[in-house]
Amino acid sequence: MFVKPQLAKLGLFDARVPRYTSYPTAPHFSAAVGPDTYANWIGAIPEGGAISLYVHVPFCRRLCWFCACRTQGTQTDAPVAAYVETLKAELALLADRLPAGVTLSRLHWGGGTPTLLSPALMTELTQAIFAVAPLGPDAEFSVEIDPNEIDEARLDALAAAGMSRASIGVQDFDAEIQKTIGRIQGYDVTRRAVEMIRARGIHSLNADILFGLPHQSKARMTESVQKLLSLNPDRVALYGYAHVPWMAKRQQLIPSDALPTPEARLDLFDTARRLFLWDGYAEIGIDHFARPEDGLTKALRSGTLRRNFQGYTDDQAEVLIGVGASSISRFPQGYAQNAPATSAYTAAIRDGRFSTNRGHIFQGEDLMRGRMIEMLMCDHRIDAAEIRADFGISDTALQAMFAGVTRAFPGMLDIGPDALAIRHEAHPLTRMIARAFDAYDLSKAGHSSAI
Ligand SMILES: C[S@@+](CC[C@H](N)C(=O)[O-])C[C@H]1O[C@@H](n2cnc3c(N)ncnc32)[C@H](O)[C@@H]1O
Ligand code: SF4
Repeated sequence: MFVKPQLAKLGLFDARVPRYTSYPTAPHFSAAVGPDTYANWIGAIPEGGAISLYVHVPFCRRLCWFCACRTQGTQTDAPVAAYVETLKAELALLADRLPAGVTLSRLHWGGGTPTLLSPALMTELTQAIFAVAPLGPDAEFSVEIDPNEIDEARLDALAAAGMSRASIGVQDFDAEIQKTIGRIQGYDVTRRAVEMIRARGIHSLNADILFGLPHQSKARMTESVQKLLSLNPDRVALYGYAHVPWMAKRQQLIPSDALPTPEARLDLFDTARRLFLWDGYAEIGIDHFARPEDGLTKALRSGTLRRNFQGYTDDQAEVLIGVGASSISRFPQGYAQNAPATSAYTAAIRDGRFSTNRGHIFQGEDLMRGRMIEMLMCDHRIDAAEIRADFGISDTALQAMFAGVTRAFPGMLDIGPDALAIRHEAHPLTRMIARAFDAYDLSKAGHSSAI
């Protein structure tokens, strides 16, 4: 049994450890992948195959101080309308190269705040997307929704377009905490958004909340989680607040001395975790909870839970294409990232070419190490038989790798012929243990771990 100070000392919740939504992580991408490679990878998608599509909208009406997402504030619709035009042009380029008969397994709109689009822009965008590829038979269409930035008309447009999953940002219900993190959102505003979503038959609701915020205590955490449970979300992401003011300048408005210690963060996570478990949620990976009938819970039970740029998923598509500024695509061959600045992204698309300016071509042990890290992040264990079968590594070499990591985390891992497993009490160190399987220069890894 470990004591909290031991876990804290080992770098628990260290903001510089990647969250491993990809391997290698984005700071290791290079100029090796440009528009031509990206176009070739799109052309190599099998005819009639299923892909997933992520659409990035990097705009918000309000800029919350705590937020580490790359987004820009705007009070007018003109830049948003111009951006949607660029997205449509990028989608047309994609349609030109995509093999016939491809359908969408998942469609996700994220940001930023995609719901700041007007209903008319939402409809235009969905039509442009479905002209590239229609939703497949078991597809899901999810949208990130700021409860302060949604109304009946926009939800009508999304429901008419086929949205099946809504993801709302809550963060915390406590008024003092909301003031300190620059995100005011009364319980009534959140509840009203949930009611409007449900009234349209949208069957699935996700909510994001944070632990590790300034002034958060166990009592306040309990109250926030209970309020969230009263809304009965199907999935909850319980993210650790990443305080990285050197990267996210707005966070300089947040008093560092009001932040909980690493040990207190562990207590806050555990307080919330127990409440979700008591309420019947399953624990998914390192920071999610889901109802027993939710797709993530079913995927966990059947060993098909995956991790991608959006976090945990039950999506089995091999290809995820990201459109919009800074979006990253994943192919069996590697990763490709669009230009991060909206200006550079727009300039490329206006020129009639993809904006891809960075990426990574899988090589050497990348796919094997990436799968091991994904297994740890999803299941807290590495299935030795699957790794041997899929990557042809000898049992001796694999056991030597496991033994090396076990020495670095004494008493925290169980190794046997079938698996390396993280002991339950060491689960808070999963990201640290995953990092031990990362062969890239870790001094660069912090850049990808903001949230
Ligand atoms: C891209 S934001 C979109 C949410 C939507 N715009 C809203 O405000 O409701 C997605 C989520 O990232 C999480 N997030 C943002 N900044 C974070 C930080 N510094 N640490 C941890 N999570 C963060 C928040 O939980 C947020 O709901
Ligand atoms: S939390 Fe949402 S609304 Fe607030 S700045 Fe981040 S993306 Fe924008």
